[in-house]
Amino acid sequence: MDEKVKRVDKTADSQKTVDEEVKKDTAKKEKMAEAEYMEADMSEQLEGENQVGAGETESCLPLAADQLDLARQYKQMMLIYEAGIRQLTTKLQILNREFEQSNDRNPIENIKSRIKSAESIAKKMERKGLPMTLSCLTNNIYDIAGIRVICPFITDVYEVARMLLSQTDVELVQVKDYIREPKENGYRSLHLIVKINVFFSDGMRQVPVEVQMRTIAMNFWASTEHQLRYKKDKAITPEMHERLKKCADIMADADYQMQKLAEEIHF
Ligand code: GTP
Ligand code: MG
Repeated sequence: MDEKVKRVDKTADSQKTVDEEVKKDTAKKEKMAEAEYMEADMSEQLEGENQVGAGETESCLPLAADQLDLARQYKQMMLIYEAGIRQLTTKLQILNREFEQSNDRNPIENIKSRIKSAESIAKKMERKGLPMTLSCLTNNIYDIAGIRVICPFITDVYEVARMLLSQTDVELVQVKDYIREPKENGYRSLHLIVKINVFFSDGMRQVPVEVQMRTIAMNFWASTEHQLRYKKDKAITPEMHERLKKCADIMADADYQMQKLAEEIHF
């Protein structure tokens, strides 16, 4: 075969590949459009039936599992939350390193993260009276991705939170300051819900992540209290509640004393 014919053949081949890709892409887009249409269609049927608050009803859509491949969508969604966790963890690690360089100590002792299990998600949806749909899930549950940041001192908690929230690709959605206003049982922590920008092949998404920030002492109490509370065969009596609360107060006092020492030593 002469060179020219070969080249024409090659061009035809690559054109064929492009055509196939375009066909595949069109089919994908049609499928997506169909899915969107079905969502819109079903939201109309559902309007007024859900008790999820203004502006949220439209997006609580039951998706037909067989047509929309629910399992695939769920997996894809979890990948998005996982990416949110990675991005946020990296940000926190960078802040920790930077602080270490200039202050000779770490304001972050430990970072842990988790993706909420399917079982816990289902339980929470049920508790909140939400229909079990993916769009309802993404619109109403903000702690699917969770990060726990443990700091040595109370001031570290607020300083790390401030540094994180000052970043332009981190949007604050909600703050619950259980350090300034502890829960009745003594639970202390700073809870933030943030949305973080993450880039994927098809564009940017804002991924919600719950960030729980607390001192080592607060974490000691919360972790042990959680274990006690989840001992299913034994109920916690009011007297035990009192003792647990007392332990929380002891922890809070230790935090306060350590903070004062830190200030005296000019940390
Ligand atoms: P849920 O997320 O549905 O529980 O409700 P919420 O978002 O109103 O709760 P909140 O933000 O107050 O707390 C959410 C998380 O904080 C829980 O899942 C726990 O991880 C932690 N938490 C809250 N209260 C306590 C507590 O009393 N003890 C312990 N050990 N952890 C707590
Ligand atoms: Mg929560």
